[in-house]
Amino acid sequence: MSTVISIINLKGGVGKTTITVALAEFLAVEHHKRVLVIDLDPQTNSTVALIGEDEWKRRNEGGQTLYALFKDHIDDTYTFEMDKSIVRRTSNLFGGLDNLHLLPSSLDFVKIQDRLIYIWQTALIRPFDVLKNAVKNHLDDYDYVLIDCPPNLGIVTQNGLNISDWYLIPAIPDHLSTYGIPQIISSVKNFNRKKSSGEVQLLGVVASMYRSNVSRHNTTLRSLKMQAEQGELTRLFETKVPLASKAADAAEYAEGVNTLKQKYGNSGNSLYEAFQSLAEELITYVQDERS
Ligand SMILES: Nc1ncnc2c1ncn2[C@@H]1O[C@H](COP(=O)(O)OP(=O)(O)O)[C@@H](O)[C@H]1O
Ligand SMILES: [Mg+2]
Repeated sequence: MSTVISIINLKGGVGKTTITVALAEFLAVEHHKRVLVIDLDPQTNSTVALIGEDEWKRRNEGGQTLYALFKDHIDDTYTFEMDKSIVRRTSNLFGGLDNLHLLPSSLDFVKIQDRLIYIWQTALIRPFDVLKNAVKNHLDDYDYVLIDCPPNLGIVTQNGLNISDWYLIPAIPDHLSTYGIPQIISSVKNFNRKKSSGEVQLLGVVASMYRSNVSRHNTTLRSLKMQAEQGELTRLFETKVPLASKAADAAEYAEGVNTLKQKYGNSGNSLYEAFQSLAEELITYVQDERS
């Protein structure tokens, strides 16, 4: 049985993509899990991080991205083929990982965003069921499916939520970045009323780009912890992802990077240690909730 997790925040630039890709790589390499990343963000950042720009361009020209899937449902065409669109070897780690797959996004998504509501008129399915219908027979091929969502709760994100068991909110621990969390939680609760099967639950909030010497970060974290204790949010992850320059390197699909330590750095308060413990925490919570 697969565990499907959407990574969501209403703000861009809070580390959603970095955390999605890192979790996918740590789950695949250190825990030998079969992982699928679904890139729903028109920014296409996790796609480029996992397969590089050249491969993305090739696939985009061949109609092998989720843009083609959604466009089909607007235009009533049948161009998208799931089997050909899943990339079955991704990441620059160890020259490519066979157990880390990707459903790529496309920058072209932007062109159809305003037309997604017309799916109602052409297709016989609800606009937030498009992804579900396409991937439902594939989800069980994976232990973990991680969905990188755009920074809003529009139809594309709802497609991600609709197949998810959990959602994870990465947030920079300051007022502006945590301000929207109650709104996300209440919007997802509303969405659950129309969701086809089961409810999508908050797995927790993860502090991103944390700086221990910034007092604002520490007070915000104390306040989030208190909200978790009061039941307003499921939990604040113990792991805090530090602000570290390696994050920018990791976003690039560079050759010659082999190990997780090379990619995420291994000195001092490193991203390597943070993502390692974040992946372990995530596995523990999912297992606890399942049993
Ligand atoms: N822990 C971190 N430390 C330093 N920079 C980071 C960290 N996480 C992300 N970044 C950088 O911040 C920018 C936004 O991160 P990204 O993961 O793309 O956010 P989002 O997907 O929420 O828009 C990127 O340039 C990324 O490399
Ligand atoms: Mg992103």
